[in-house]
Amino acid sequence: MAGNWKMYKTPAETKAFFDAFLPLVAESKHCDIAICPPFVNIPAAVEAARGSRVGIGAQNLYWKNEGAFTGEISGPMILSAGAEWVIIGHSERRQFFGETDATVLERTKAALAAGLKPIVCVGERLEEREAGQTDAVLTAQFQGGIAALSAGDFGRIVIAYEPVWAIGTGKVATPEMAADAHRTLRALVIANYGAEAGAAARILYGGSVKPDNVKGLMAQPEIDGALVGGASLKASDFASIVNF
Ligand code: 13P
Repeated sequence: MAGNWKMYKTPAETKAFFDAFLPLVAESKHCDIAICPPFVNIPAAVEAARGSRVGIGAQNLYWKNEGAFTGEISGPMILSAGAEWVIIGHSERRQFFGETDATVLERTKAALAAGLKPIVCVGERLEEREAGQTDAVLTAQFQGGIAALSAGDFGRIVIAYEPVWAIGTGKVATPEMAADAHRTLRALVIANYGAEAGAAARILYGGSVKPDNVKGLMAQPEIDGALVGGASLKASDFASIVNF
């Protein structure tokens, strides 16, 4: 269960979140829990989460380790700040910052080389779903952004299915729609990496996950967890989601 804070919260607000959140998930041992704040809050989040089961992640990284790349942050820097996860290829990065399947692959390889655990995002836009292209889009994103990883590297990533039309819109995919897309993705895993990798792959659903709809989504055997935006900003809401 991962929270993507996007561009929200200061370091002080980060600490306040963890003060409220950690007691609510102290007994939650059924899943991995991650919070991905903005870069500048990673040290505060790592400090606040120390000794808990909550891992910290970044929301992006650049694929070079260092160099003259003004404004970028590398995998080794993120790791050295104490984070263990990194979100890659989020639809907002694809939509607003020119991310492509090829750059998703570069970033994923760099994250793995640094020792980070990538959460690689895929998902179709509304017009693509309406045109019946959901499976084709997911296939292209998987083949272009993920499938070149070695089997060993693939085993270290988490996939997040986030239909773009369900992000921040309050329009959640029905559990059946999400499960259909997850089945498509799992079939791609099996085709590329085999049945064992297919069974082991963790595929998260993201897009308007809230305390009142998480149970229905998680009832689908295909859905292994959630990547949560808005509802991860409030400690009690995200704790309810973790403890679905
Ligand atoms: P919302 O939960 O706010 O719809 O955001 C989903 C998301 O983009 C998580 O990465």
